[in-house]
Amino acid sequence: MLRNTETNWGAVARAFHWGTGALIIGMFAYGLWMSEFPAREDRAYHYAIHASIGISLLALMVARLIWRALNPTPTPPAGSAKWEITAARLGHIGLYALVFATLVVGWFLAGSGRRTLDYWLFGIVPMPNMLGTESPYHKPLEEAHALLAYAMIALVVVHVAAAIWHARVKRDGVLARMTRGSSA
Ligand code: HEM
Ligand code: HEM
Repeated sequence: MLRNTETNWGAVARAFHWGTGALIIGMFAYGLWMSEFPAREDRAYHYAIHASIGISLLALMVARLIWRALNPTPTPPAGSAKWEITAARLGHIGLYALVFATLVVGWFLAGSGRRTLDYWLFGIVPMPNMLGTESPYHKPLEEAHALLAYAMIALVVVHVAAAIWHARVKRDGVLARMTRGSSA
């Protein structure tokens, strides 16, 4: 089934979840690696790839939310406590908010330092440079981007722990409906 039902995630929502999820974790690792290695000539190249993947991811996340709005959201399994439903809801809102904030701040950051955003989206489509070079906001944006990325990954760790708890302790099919698309 491509579409969601009241109890299960459809194939499209699952593809969005795992595809964007993998990209997000990959972007975090790539961001750390490219900023931490000792300065070398190809650093600007890696910044450009990080930005190109990031802006593509932003488009994917917008598509994901549109698909979400056009589909029913599976309800929590029967017997879920009120606090569990609230915690899951707040956690998911937090994940979406932190992912979007990291992406948008990243875009404003890119090209705001010494080097302009003179690279293209994988060399195909121009990427608008939001602030221009030598911006006074460069340093704060750099710190905000790193902080948001760390906060987002911390919440992902909690999210994954919750998924394992559902699978191993509660055994309520919540993980299965996001992997196989069926809690039966
Ligand atoms: C979910 C998406 C993203 C994640 C998880 C992410 C993560 C990171 C991380 C962990 C760093 C290293 C921070 C540090 O320790 O200093 C970084 C750096 C950077 N990111 Fe991202 N990023 C994302 C999206 C973007 C986007 C969309 C852009 C631009 C369009 C971007 C531009 C940059 C730039 C330019 C740096 C280098 C900062 C510097 O040290 O000057 N990022 N990113
Ligand atoms: C190994 C990694 C992951 C596992 C095991 C996992 C597991 C799950 C499961 C089981 C659900 C469904 C919850 C339900 O049916 O009520 C879910 C939903 C969700 N996951 Fe993940 N996830 C992972 C990674 C990620 C990552 C990296 C992100 C993004 C930062 C993410 C963001 C979300 C969001 C936003 C939802 C809510 C979907 C919605 O209501 O639209 N997940 N995840």
